[in-house]
Amino acid sequence: MRPDTLRSRIFLDGGDPHEAQQALAMLGFLDGQTTNPTLIAKNPQAKKLLEKGQKFTREEILNFYHFVVRELSALMPQGSISIEVYADLATTAKDMLLQAEKMNGWIHNAHIKFPTSAEGLKAAEQAAAGGMRINMTLCFTQEQAAAVYAASRGAKRGNVFVSPFVGRLDDRGEDGMQLIANIMKMYAQGDSHVEVLTASVRNLGHLLRGLQLGSDILTVPFTVLKEWADQGLPVPGRGYTYDAKGLAPIPYRDIPLTLNWDQYHLDHDLTVKGTERFSQDWNALIT
Ligand code: G3P
Repeated sequence: MRPDTLRSRIFLDGGDPHEAQQALAMLGFLDGQTTNPTLIAKNPQAKKLLEKGQKFTREEILNFYHFVVRELSALMPQGSISIEVYADLATTAKDMLLQAEKMNGWIHNAHIKFPTSAEGLKAAEQAAAGGMRINMTLCFTQEQAAAVYAASRGAKRGNVFVSPFVGRLDDRGEDGMQLIANIMKMYAQGDSHVEVLTASVRNLGHLLRGLQLGSDILTVPFTVLKEWADQGLPVPGRGYTYDAKGLAPIPYRDIPLTLNWDQYHLDHDLTVKGTERFSQDWNALIT
């Protein structure tokens, strides 16, 4: 049952409808799901095929992705299901948009994921202007989040998510949860049309801190949701102290939300590495 004091929406981060069913049964609610190429590659049916030494054709893998999100959408018809476009470092905005339009037609409740890169933002700007729901992934800085805000100006609240990847910042010694706090503080100067979706959640501490901060949405792997459920779905208040375990603080920066998206500094090596990894995981599925 959804705790009365829960203000954030909780998504499952995964690529397996069976797991989504289990999460729904365990929590009694789920507000949506995020998928990505790596998570689709981990889907048990996909893994079984690869273990037999087989692979998908380009058409088959898209049909498989379509099948997975259709199942997820049927399980959470009122929720949001994020579907990620294929993007490697050479993929153009035009190509991303073409994919996005197709994927957006797969289900009624899609948010289409684009990388928070120059090409991704170019595609997202057009997609959002046309009313498409979008989720900007692989965000690692406040500036990138400001660019997402700028690229989607005018979009309806609920249509635009930004996904800062906290775990991957932690991995390199930076306090990822502080980026969430910083982006929320920066967005508080604006019109709230972008929702902050805490992603790359690795542990219960991330989830609890995200809830305490009031992150609009958190996408959480099944194992962490289970830990949360086992503890009775606690929603921490002011009394909770997050243990950043000695990670380096990420200082808040005064960044105006008034520029055009291409005036912000967009580069981040983790966005590049993340794009490479997603595309490699996807290509490993294809003959
Ligand atoms: O929500 C994004 C997520 O799937 C990435 O997580 O653990 O690979 O950094 P991770």
